[in-house]
Amino acid sequence: MARVAEHAAALDVERIRADFPILRREVHGRPLVYLNSAATTQKPRQVIQALVEFYEQHNANAHRGVDTLGEEATALFEGARAKLAAFVGAPDPACIVFNRGTTESINLVAHAYGRKVLKEGDEVLLTQMEHHSNMIPWLLLAQATGATVRHLPIREDGTLELDALGSFLTHRTKIFSVTGMSNVLGTIPPLRRLADAAHAAGAVLVVDGAQLVPHLPVDVVDLDVDFLTVSGHKMLGPTASGGLYGRRELLEQMDPFMGGGEMIREVYWDRATWADVPWKFEAGTMNIAQEVGLAAAIDYLGALGMENVRAHEERITAYAMERLLDAGARIFGPTDPSVRSGAISFWFKDIHPHDLATVLDQEGVAIRAGHHCAQPLMRVLGVPATARASFYIYNTPDEVDALIDALRVAERLFRTA
Ligand code: ALA
Repeated sequence: MARVAEHAAALDVERIRADFPILRREVHGRPLVYLNSAATTQKPRQVIQALVEFYEQHNANAHRGVDTLGEEATALFEGARAKLAAFVGAPDPACIVFNRGTTESINLVAHAYGRKVLKEGDEVLLTQMEHHSNMIPWLLLAQATGATVRHLPIREDGTLELDALGSFLTHRTKIFSVTGMSNVLGTIPPLRRLADAAHAAGAVLVVDGAQLVPHLPVDVVDLDVDFLTVSGHKMLGPTASGGLYGRRELLEQMDPFMGGGEMIREVYWDRATWADVPWKFEAGTMNIAQEVGLAAAIDYLGALGMENVRAHEERITAYAMERLLDAGARIFGPTDPSVRSGAISFWFKDIHPHDLATVLDQEGVAIRAGHHCAQPLMRVLGVPATARASFYIYNTPDEVDALIDALRVAERLFRTA
């Protein structure tokens, strides 16, 4: 711990930890060390309380009634939309479509935008470090339209091969969809540069913001992105919260993604017209309580300040990488904490990541092991799986030390096995 005396946190982590009831529990008789926030973050009592209060005091369907509860639920739901819009710098709440998060958002863009613009011979450009949720919707789209999906390579250090961008991003590219922060490598691509390149080629830029938005200040206008996805459960919000930011003129041009209640203006036996954006993309009863919970998460992060969230993450990532390397781990992805996230994938002493994660769990340390929904990337890295520790606002240097201690236990166990 003395080694990180300079780890004078920009965040008051002990105070933050007191807001997270789950961090007080034990696992296998040991204090929980939760290092799997890239999979989903824990929730502060403020978010849990927002859900309880919604269900105890305001529960009703949104946009479905003029009764008091109906008005309250609608105001809370639409208030959450305005909060998320402000959080990502969207010029207008109408640019935010609510849904279950990144997977649903990318499917929405693939169906409602991709099917409209793509024809045989066109291309969708992805990168080699995409999550399956930013691959499969485009594969399905390519099968339906005759378009081709291409993948910008990564370099040895886990950054994008930007020198190859010109040969991958051409007049045939109609959509360039890229992660804003790799869930495996931690890499943060230069999004503004990618947006400029996409626009110069006549393509739109879609950013998978699942990992990005929870960890960095994001401004869609500064970045000039056309679509940005948000997964609320990775930023302290409830599961199935979040949505899609879309440039308004693009959302206006797009057809609905799903049909059903409330996304219409007028319906006849043989035809229908659509509600305005964003509601034409919100069919059926929505995830009202979850988005209200997300609003509380945004308030929480806003009070901390996203610059401080990022500063904390950079510090703890630097410390974790130093200790992991000292312990003999091989780390995948950029080694400079200022250009990467706190999702650190590693390989340790030839112990299979699943075995490692099982031993660590016995020590109370929760990490993720596996292909991280990025099987093609695992093939590029030449491994079947990785272990991954990922950090957030509530993690401390002591927990990094607990991770290293648990790795030592695994090492001893497998050496003697
Ligand atoms: N995409 C999430 C992860 O990387 C689930 O763990």
